[in-house]
This record gives sequence, C-alpha cells and structure tokens, in this order.
Amino acid sequence: MTDDHRIEHPDVILCPGGPMLIRGDHLIEDADGLLHPTRRPVSALCRCGKSSTQPWCDGTHKVLPDRTRP
Ligand code: FES
Repeated sequence: MTDDHRIEHPDVILCPGGPMLIRGDHLIEDADGLLHPTRRPVSALCRCGKSSTQPWCDGTHKVLPDRTRP
C-alpha cells in the first residue's frame, strides 16, 4: 500500500458533528467492556453518545442541537 492510497482512503474518518467511520475489520469495545466485531467494509461509530444502537451510529446525531454534537 502506498502513501497516496492511505491519503485517498484513510482508515479512520471523523465526520464533523457525526460518527467516526472506520474501514475494515476491527473489534470495538463498548463502555461496558463488550466486544463488537465490525461486519461492514465501513462502520460508523457513535461519537455523540445518543445512539440507541451503541457503539454504532444510528443517525440520532442529526437531530441534536449543534452545540451538543461531536
Ligand atoms: S454520532 Fe451518530 S448517533 Fe451518535
């Protein structure tokens, strides 16, 4: 893999006011210590803390006031 490829396709993307997108296979540990394997080519992790499907983003961040979004 070249550096150019990494720049065009980063492994982690922080979406302003929204989730963290991670590319590839990962094991995510939630706040309770439970492990969740990623199952998609790109997975969205909640950063606002309001998703009902933690640790995954369910889109709830879109209805939050701007000042409370990550
Ligand atoms: S970042 Fe999307 S629901 Fe929390």
